[in-house]
Amino acid sequence: MSKQKNDRALRFYNEVLGLDRLHYGMWESGDELTFAKLREAQIRYEEFLVNHIPHGVKRVLDVGCGTGMLVKKLLDNGYNVEGLSPDINQKRNFAENINAPFHHLGFEEFTASERYDCLIMSESAQYINMEKLFQNARQALKQDGYLMICDYFVFKNATGEKSAKAAMCSKLFTACLRSITSA
Ligand SMILES: C[S@@+](CC[C@H](N)C(=O)[O-])C[C@H]1O[C@@H](n2cnc3c(N)ncnc32)[C@H](O)[C@@H]1O
Repeated sequence: MSKQKNDRALRFYNEVLGLDRLHYGMWESGDELTFAKLREAQIRYEEFLVNHIPHGVKRVLDVGCGTGMLVKKLLDNGYNVEGLSPDINQKRNFAENINAPFHHLGFEEFTASERYDCLIMSESAQYINMEKLFQNARQALKQDGYLMICDYFVFKNATGEKSAKAAMCSKLFTACLRSITSA
């Protein structure tokens, strides 16, 4: 039995603040810190992701798909795409608004019945157990498939030291290299 989640913070952003995307977006320097600019930054980020999907990719799994807006955009761009999230609110939202298959569980518990060309983790890798992330990515991807991880890592402004998340970033890249070199 997989672990369901009920992430109230993400639900608050979506249902109370009215944000239809659950990531921080890609800001331009000098942007005012407003909701309007946040929405622009979110769309800019989503376009950046779609434009960086490698050529030849057809079958995509959006791991930690949130509200499903990226899934929707990928469908519009002709990809064969599915969403995955352990969250009960996101499951309901996806069923109501997105016309694509949805897997309701954490990626750690996921077994692909058919392999993907590309897995996208947009601000979701930080939620997934790191060892399991790479093990499961390998079983879910076709030979020469792609794992796209896009996340944010904060550096301490005053000291320039890595914060806990930024330290995790180094760990992630090390794990990634280890995974690739042992393939
Ligand atoms: C910050 S939101 C990002 C949502 C979306 N990818 C986006 O860019 O708007 C994190 C997402 O990861 C999901 N998540 C949390 N734990 C997870 C897990 N163990 N496996 C897969 N996804 C998970 C959350 O439910 C949510 O959909």
